Amino acid sequence: MKVLVLGGAGYIGSHMVTYLQAQNIGVVVIDDLSTGFSDSVAGVPLYQGDFANQELLQQVFKEHQIDAVMHFAASSQVGESVLNPEKYYSNNLCKTQVLLNIMRQHQVINIVFSSTAAVYGSPEQALIDEQHPVTPINPYGRSKLAVEWMLQDYASAYGIKAVCLRYFNAAGAAIDASNGERHDPETHLIPLVLQALSGRRHGIKVFGTDYATPDGTCIRDYIHILDLAQAHLLALNWLLTQSSCTYRAFNLGNGAGFSVCQVIATAKEITGQQLNEEASARRMGDPAVLVASAEQAKQVLGWKPQYTQLQEIIAHAWAWEQKLAGL
Ligand code: UFG
Repeated sequence: MKVLVLGGAGYIGSHMVTYLQAQNIGVVVIDDLSTGFSDSVAGVPLYQGDFANQELLQQVFKEHQIDAVMHFAASSQVGESVLNPEKYYSNNLCKTQVLLNIMRQHQVINIVFSSTAAVYGSPEQALIDEQHPVTPINPYGRSKLAVEWMLQDYASAYGIKAVCLRYFNAAGAAIDASNGERHDPETHLIPLVLQALSGRRHGIKVFGTDYATPDGTCIRDYIHILDLAQAHLLALNWLLTQSSCTYRAFNLGNGAGFSVCQVIATAKEITGQQLNEEASARRMGDPAVLVASAEQAKQVLGWKPQYTQLQEIIAHAWAWEQKLAGL
């Protein structure tokens, strides 16, 4: 089997590539390296370029017998999407349509798509399952939901088989600290806290301390990057057993929420370092609580997350941060 991984040099994509290789599955990567790093996929066939460049895609599909596509290449900052929706509809939606059309030409029908909890918008209940209404509140979430709808329609009309995986908060790093999160600029809580603890950053701002949560800060469901990778491969294997015209969306999370203050306290405990914390205004577009019910992924795909403890997730991310910081 050979999988084309779009965005394979990015944070989630590169961990996926390593995971697939460990299962002896062939991998080809397309990445424009706008946010990814070629050294995170050293030794893997890497086509550097835009995944919607038709010539490039045609070349890759001609040179390789691709069985399935895993699509991680997207713009993913909520705040930026509000200020610059054109970028989000272009990168996330329009380019994915180009991809699907070329996949159809080459009779490649299997796709696992990186979606997001942002498709749910402001949650109506604490534990979100896939039946929860999808009413995204920002262009990022809307662009991802539009792709989900496109995949659903392409599945019905053209026989595409698609799984959409709606991630909650991806975090953690490879267990041997060979790979991890490296966004620039970094916007995510765990790497920012760890950068502050390693001395690479002055401190951390807590965005909102007046939410209706026990300590007033936002609650999120953090999921280990390796558990995400496991779910993708299970999703692909499941797709391969399905007949054509399959479409399904699954949540990926641990079903346990941790507040910003709990994340900071756990990180301080693990690292033994002190942190400058500053209460700050709420960040635009942040729901108070986002926690997944991932029962469907467990029941249908057989997903068994291995690293469900926040301590493990942060400890792995800390080993990676220490490496980046040269500690
Ligand atoms: N936070 C801070 N200080 C910081 C950074 C973050 O207090 O410096 C808070 C945020 O306000 C939020 C929590 O930490 O309450 C987690 O924030 P992240 O940026 O780490 O993650 P998000 O929950 O905002 O984002 C994730 C995904 C997005 C997805 C979104 C769905 O990364 O892709 O969930 O709401 F869209």
